[in-house]
Amino acid sequence: MNSLNGMTAIVTGSAQGMGKGIALGLAQRGVNVALCDVKSDVLEATRTEIESRTGQKIVAHALDITDETKVKVFIADVIRELGHIDILVNNAGIHPLRPIEEIEGAEWDLVFNVNVKAHFLLAKEVIPGMRARTFGRIINISSEAGKNGGTVAALHYAASKGAVLAFTRNLAQQVGADGITVNAICPGRIQTAMSGAVSPKENQKFIDNSITKSLGLPEDVAYAVCYLAGREASFVTAETMNVNGGTLRD
Ligand SMILES: NC(=O)c1ccc[n+]([C@@H]2O[C@H](COP(=O)([O-])OP(=O)(O)OC[C@H]3O[C@@H](n4cnc5c(N)ncnc54)[C@H](O)[C@@H]3O)[C@@H](O)[C@H]2O)c1
Repeated sequence: MNSLNGMTAIVTGSAQGMGKGIALGLAQRGVNVALCDVKSDVLEATRTEIESRTGQKIVAHALDITDETKVKVFIADVIRELGHIDILVNNAGIHPLRPIEEIEGAEWDLVFNVNVKAHFLLAKEVIPGMRARTFGRIINISSEAGKNGGTVAALHYAASKGAVLAFTRNLAQQVGADGITVNAICPGRIQTAMSGAVSPKENQKFIDNSITKSLGLPEDVAYAVCYLAGREASFVTAETMNVNGGTLRD
């Protein structure tokens, strides 16, 4: 039995990369999905592709998830379109590569706004409906860098991904009695535009350090999301799942 069949989900940052892979993986298992991204040009093509490949209802909204007012409108729109929200995947993130000397305060704030604050804004809006229905799954995409500090110069990114882990563990305690689980995934290097911006030498170091001798694919993360989103995973919460080819073993 596929326990995801008939559920509804929001996946942030889903025009491309891991978010697109996660949305596709959920839709392939019978989930109706709301996509959102700042990349309005690619978003509609992604929506059409996932809808035609899966036959599920897929809606798409172009928005900046750091904008609190727009997030409120977005959630209300999705509830109107899909009926309710069972699953929230906080996936959107940014990863500016810069040594500390070159990071301005504004960029620090932007990274934390996208990578952490937006998780809070989205979660706050979906939780009342999840509590009322005594079911919910919130899955936050952190990173291996949130645990080991990362391997490239991106101090704000690594710090923000560590914050996502504490966010996950605290929120899990606040909503667990209402049937809502909150978990994080720590991907290693996954083949997307984000890892494409890292040097080939750095990506090769990751491959050499992995047990699988490979980078990951978006579908590797999607499969972990589908497990955590399932009804059977109701006793798994405040957990962090590595999807990293065995690079970081903790
Ligand atoms: N690719 C990797 O190797 C890797 C490793 C560990 C963790 N991650 C994490 O996985 C997640 C997905 O990354 P990816 O590799 O697919 O990157 P990506 O850059 O391909 O995709 C990120 C998406 O988020 C969107 N986005 C960024 N800011 C936004 C905003 N303010 N509002 C709405 N959408 C916004 C982007 O437009 C983009 O479509 C991120 O949180 C990233 O930190 C990636």
